[in-house]
Amino acid sequence: MMDPTPVRRCVCMNVRFDEVLESGAESVEEAGELTGAGTKCGSCRPYLAACLRTGETAFAIIWDTGEFD
Ligand code: FES
Repeated sequence: MMDPTPVRRCVCMNVRFDEVLESGAESVEEAGELTGAGTKCGSCRPYLAACLRTGETAFAIIWDTGEFD
């Protein structure tokens, strides 16, 4: 059975979302500065935003709805 929340890291930079929370980052930009997450293709940035907003570190795949912009 497929993992319902398979998105757990920035794949490009191999940074897990729990590492982003541990870094103390308060914004997607700061997460990039502190960990490198979100600084390449950018497809994880909506998840990073949700991670920082909710404290969750595992997400279902979402499509770009603009919900987390
Ligand atoms: S998956 Fe995070 S920058 Fe590409």
